[in-house]
Amino acid sequence: MAISVKTGEELERMRAAGRVVGRLLKELGARVRPGVTTAELDAFARDFIAAEGGVPTFLGYHGYPACICASVNEQVVHGIPGPRRLQPGDIVGVDVGATVGGFVGDAARTFAVGPVDPGTQRLLTVTREALDKGIAAALPGGHVQDIGAAVQAHAEAAGFSVVRDFVGHGIGRSMHEDPQVPNYGRRGLGPKLKAGMTLAIEPMLNAGRHEVVVLGDGWTVVTKDGRMSAHFEDTIIIASGGAEILTRMD
Ligand code: MF3
Ligand code: CO
Repeated sequence: MAISVKTGEELERMRAAGRVVGRLLKELGARVRPGVTTAELDAFARDFIAAEGGVPTFLGYHGYPACICASVNEQVVHGIPGPRRLQPGDIVGVDVGATVGGFVGDAARTFAVGPVDPGTQRLLTVTREALDKGIAAALPGGHVQDIGAAVQAHAEAAGFSVVRDFVGHGIGRSMHEDPQVPNYGRRGLGPKLKAGMTLAIEPMLNAGRHEVVVLGDGWTVVTKDGRMSAHFEDTIIIASGGAEILTRMD
């Protein structure tokens, strides 16, 4: 399938969807603290998206049972919200998708719950930086793997590993469109990037080894070695002066 280049009107709708997701993540970040349950965060997201006239993109996607993913500590992505209470020293990756006016915004942040140990704080900082490096490498005339190469170089220079089994993606009317956007790769390889393409870039970095496993619930992805993992994601528009980030209000 060809990678779609959105029209001006489609990009306006992508911006509107992205704004809802960016504002929601900011609100969720303000609600992450010791004692809160991940189900409470999910309920807030459900109400927020409804109040904005949107639809929670994740709910029912391949049977997924919630509006957000909340992935704690060694959980990499796709943690299902529930009665677990966040504790000081935890980290929680919060991933949200909203469909607004027929277009999808998709983004994630990993938040510290109270003070976390310095190595864990560093994982959060480096993963956010890796997302920024990936976004900076997403330029018209470049190639999809320029993004992953930039993410991987930053992650591995800091001594962290890049998850291979889950990737970023094109995004638009559907959450997952072509191309796949791996967080590793070689500069100059992969499909060519053009202005007006919209992508979700989402590095997942592990403190230890890159291998992951899926738990028996069929969703929750955890590190195989049990060490911490962090995830940051933004939806962007490829543009000549550098990417436009649609989901960042923090
Ligand atoms: N940001 C994730 C992704 O791009 C969220 C999907 S969770 C799901 O795949 F439940 F909706 F699958
Ligand atoms: Co995504």
